[in-house]
Amino acid sequence: MTIIYLNGEYLPLEKATVSVEDRGFLFADGVYEVVRYYQGRPFQLEAHLQRLQRSAQGACLPLPKAVAELPAIIARLLAENNLQDTNFYIECTRGTAHPRTHAFPAEPHPTLLVMPQPIHSLPAEARTRGVSAITVPDLRWQRCDIKSIMLLPNVMAKTQARERGAFEAILVRDGIVTEGSSTNIFAVLDGVLATHPANHHILGGITRQIVLQLAAALRIPVREEPFTVEQMYHAQEVFLTSTTSEVLPITQIDGQTIGNGQPGPVTMRLFQSFQRMTEREG
Ligand code: PDD
Repeated sequence: MTIIYLNGEYLPLEKATVSVEDRGFLFADGVYEVVRYYQGRPFQLEAHLQRLQRSAQGACLPLPKAVAELPAIIARLLAENNLQDTNFYIECTRGTAHPRTHAFPAEPHPTLLVMPQPIHSLPAEARTRGVSAITVPDLRWQRCDIKSIMLLPNVMAKTQARERGAFEAILVRDGIVTEGSSTNIFAVLDGVLATHPANHHILGGITRQIVLQLAAALRIPVREEPFTVEQMYHAQEVFLTSTTSEVLPITQIDGQTIGNGQPGPVTMRLFQSFQRMTEREG
């Protein structure tokens, strides 16, 4: 039985319910985070909590006071559920309001949910051989930097990938690679590690930021600049990053082989550094 946190209460998952008038349910009016715990220790929790604050600010959503207690809430859920390696899903919506009206309620009563999520283990060969991806149009809005629960374009993109036997859908806006449906995308172009700048067109991933720092430490040249789909097809290496997938090589995109079809040296060095960091800090 999984115990979760909802609005001040610790409850079995089956017993935890929110109103059908919750604005998260009616309008996808909310923000979220996913934080990873390694051996019972959080990885980059502070960075995730800061991004939650930024997302809430961007959505003009007042976070409840309990957000200050999130580290303690998660620690209790870890203990109660006897977990070590897990993800935590944190969601805050603008809460229940009556009647259904688009404009924000004058006095919102935000909903706060925290629940553990099992780590989906990757297919055995994903790390050693890399995964495949497809490209799809980026149908999202102009504030992708807000980690909003409004994920329909992302959900549709990921489902297309699954239907076509691919691991990830890479989103393309005006010929430019923005990010993955739930990941950031990096390419090695002429020996330089490139990724889309962290502006309103992508979610500034915590893993993305760590990888940029690790690249600097490893003296790998980096360029936070947009690149096109054509450039990506001809890249030496492509990989994705996220809290749940860490650093994962992409060796085939839209049926085209990337580089020599094997995970490349830059990807592997960064993955190993990342792993060492999660062992140290996580
Ligand atoms: N997704 N871009 C998008 C659109 C994302 O949804 C995510 C994370 C990322 C990577 O961010 P980070 O490195 O901070 O996890 C990039 C989470 C894991 C999810 O929705 O499950």
